[in-house]
Amino acid sequence: MNIAILGYGTVGSGVALIIEQAHTPFTKKLHVKHILIRKGKNKILSTMCDDIHTILNDKDCDTVVETMGGIEPAHTYILQALKSGKHVVTANKAVVAKYLQEFIECAKENHVKFYFEATTGGGIPWIEGLDKAMRIDEIDHIYGIFNGTSNYILDHMERYNADFDKILKEAQSLGYAEADPSADIDGFDIRNKLRISASLAYAFHVPEDFPVYGIRTITKQDITYFKHLGYHIRLVAKTKRQGNKYGCVVEPVLFPQNEIESNTKNNYNVITLHGKTIGDLKFYGQGAGKLPTANAIVQDMIDINENTTRFETSFTNQMHYDKSLCLCDYI
Ligand code: HSE
Repeated sequence: MNIAILGYGTVGSGVALIIEQAHTPFTKKLHVKHILIRKGKNKILSTMCDDIHTILNDKDCDTVVETMGGIEPAHTYILQALKSGKHVVTANKAVVAKYLQEFIECAKENHVKFYFEATTGGGIPWIEGLDKAMRIDEIDHIYGIFNGTSNYILDHMERYNADFDKILKEAQSLGYAEADPSADIDGFDIRNKLRISASLAYAFHVPEDFPVYGIRTITKQDITYFKHLGYHIRLVAKTKRQGNKYGCVVEPVLFPQNEIESNTKNNYNVITLHGKTIGDLKFYGQGAGKLPTANAIVQDMIDINENTTRFETSFTNQMHYDKSLCLCDYI
C-alpha cells in the first residue's frame, strides 16, 4: 500500500512514526510515498510536496490519509482522492460530521474505501464496533465521554483542586486539545463525534442543530461540591432513537462514584451503545493524543489493505428530531 499523508502536524507525523517503527507483518506492507505540507514550508523530507496534484496524479499511490483538519481544502481533497480511485482514511471530525454521507456514497461509486475510525474516540475501535453491532441490531441509544481534553480538565481539576485555565494549558501541551481549544471546552468537538456516530447508527445524516452545553463555566468549587455529594462530573454526548424519531444532546452529567464514567481519567473516553440483542456494550481507551489517534488511522489502513468491508447500510432513513428524547434523562 502506497500512502500519501496530507498534513504533518501531531496526527500526521504520528502516522509516519508508527509506520516507521512498528515492524509487524501488517505495518511492513505500508509505505509512505508522499507527505503534503503547506506551500512555503520547508521540505525537510524527500517525500514532502506542496501540490495535491503530485499525489492525485500518482497512479502508484493508492491511499490518502487526511490529517489537515478543518473543512476546506480537506473536503475538496478527499473527494478528489476518492474520484481518482484512491482509498481515503481521515481523522478530521469536522469535515466528516458535515459530509459523511457524501464521502461514503462517493467511495462506493468509485469502488474505493472511506474509513474514519480516528475521528471518534481516538484509539478506541468505536466506529468499527458500532458498524459491527449494526450488522445485527438496530442501535437505539449511544452515550459517552467522547472528548479527551474536557475529560482531562474535569478529572485533573478534581484530583488536584486546580484551576480550569492551568489544566487546559496542560492538555494543550500534551497534544490532546484542538488548535482552537474552544471546540473541546464548549462541546463542538464532541458534537461532531456524536453526529458521526448517530448518522452511522441511524443511516441518516444528523444535522448539527441540537443542544450543546460545554464545561467553560464549571469551577473547582463546583467540582468539590459535587464530590462532597458523591458525584463526578463528565462532559457527555448522547443520542436516543424511537422509531423514526431521535434526540441528541451534549451536556455535563453527574455520575455516582461506582460508575465507569466517574473512573474515566485523563484523556480517556468511554462510549456505550445499546442494541436489542447485544444490550449495553462499552468501549474504553485513550480518546485523544498523537499516538492513539495515529494508531486508529494505521488500523484503518491495515483493514483496507486486508480488504475488510464497512458501512454497507445506505443513508435512506428519514428521521425527525424530537428533543424530549434526550432531555431530563438519567443515564
Ligand atoms: N481534541 C480532541 C479531544 C482530540 O480532546 O478529544 C481527539 O479527537
